[in-house]
Amino acid sequence: MEDLYERIVADLKQKQTISPEDLKTLLADREETHESRLFAAARERAVQTFGKQIYLRGLIEFTNYCKNDCYYCGIRAGNARAKRYRLSEEEILACCNRGETLGFRTFVLQGGEDPFYSDDDICGIIEKIKKKHPDCAVTLSIGERSREAYRRFFESGAERYLLRQETANEAHYSMLHPPAMSAENRKRCLWDLKEIGYQVGCGFLVGTPGQGVSEIYEDLIFMQELQPQMIGIGPYLAHQDTPWRDKPDGNVTDTLRLLSVLRLLFPKALLPATTALGTADPKGREKGILAGANVLMPNLSPAAVREKYLLYDGKICTGEEAAECVKCLSDRIEQIGYTVAESRGDHPDFCQ
Ligand code: SAM
Ligand code: FES
Repeated sequence: MEDLYERIVADLKQKQTISPEDLKTLLADREETHESRLFAAARERAVQTFGKQIYLRGLIEFTNYCKNDCYYCGIRAGNARAKRYRLSEEEILACCNRGETLGFRTFVLQGGEDPFYSDDDICGIIEKIKKKHPDCAVTLSIGERSREAYRRFFESGAERYLLRQETANEAHYSMLHPPAMSAENRKRCLWDLKEIGYQVGCGFLVGTPGQGVSEIYEDLIFMQELQPQMIGIGPYLAHQDTPWRDKPDGNVTDTLRLLSVLRLLFPKALLPATTALGTADPKGREKGILAGANVLMPNLSPAAVREKYLLYDGKICTGEEAAECVKCLSDRIEQIGYTVAESRGDHPDFCQ
């Protein structure tokens, strides 16, 4: 086992490959010394590319209205108990102003899929942010829209787009989503975004019902084709008002090992240690960084709406002010020997 594990980590490091059998072995192994060698290899690779620097992205959760009904998500349209909110353009711009003062150089506009904000509205918001904060990057995470809409957002100044494929396997996708949604369209969106010129982020949920090693492997294959600049993975966590309230949460250990695998397969990718990871384990974000992640996404949304953007139960940072989260995260980063980066944190291939 010792030799086998060494060989798997060596293949990841030197050849940037892993076979389905090796992925299975790696996830099934419960030997902590093995695991720490995998984490160390991934961490070293991240430090080689980015130094001991962590990029912060200011997350603005500007609407929790969503027309979709993903079975796992707390803000799904079918959740009549969700208290809905939308931020006005002025409120979004105020978050950005606050964010720039706190040192953020990237704003992530995230929301449910909410057609209330037309393509024109989104373009207007992007243009105003870029005018006021020309040194900052704008990342969108607003779900599936037309190629034309994506093109217009890009021309308005958005540089990056986050859209997890959730699972690349079509049958598995159909288990997690109602028939109106398809893996095919999700992938179509990702390819459109890539072709338009965005820095693209995809990713998947870890531990959703029906997910086995072969589904995860399909995600790796899909991402090797897409070659995203950012990859977000986090454990699936149950929400009490979804059809999946009784399904077990995704596993932190698997998430950390997969983060390491992703770091070794995609050395230059921007990999967040997600809020879901920090919710599943109080030290999850630090552990994520020590397993190869290099991005954190503190919440910049107004404190009054935070507890309404509940994708899963127990979400952390819902009672905090933006400044408290930044201070808390900077302290946590320093405690593990890293510092907060001051630059925008583009993908190395996109740095001017
Ligand atoms: N509407 C946009 C989209 O579809 O990309 C962005 C918002 S969506 C709520 C952001 C991400 O939250 C999803 O891609 C999904 O992976 C994650 N998410 C939703 N429900 C979750 C849950 N119960 N546990 C963990 N992550 C969840
Ligand atoms: Fe929000 Fe720690 S990051 S309180």
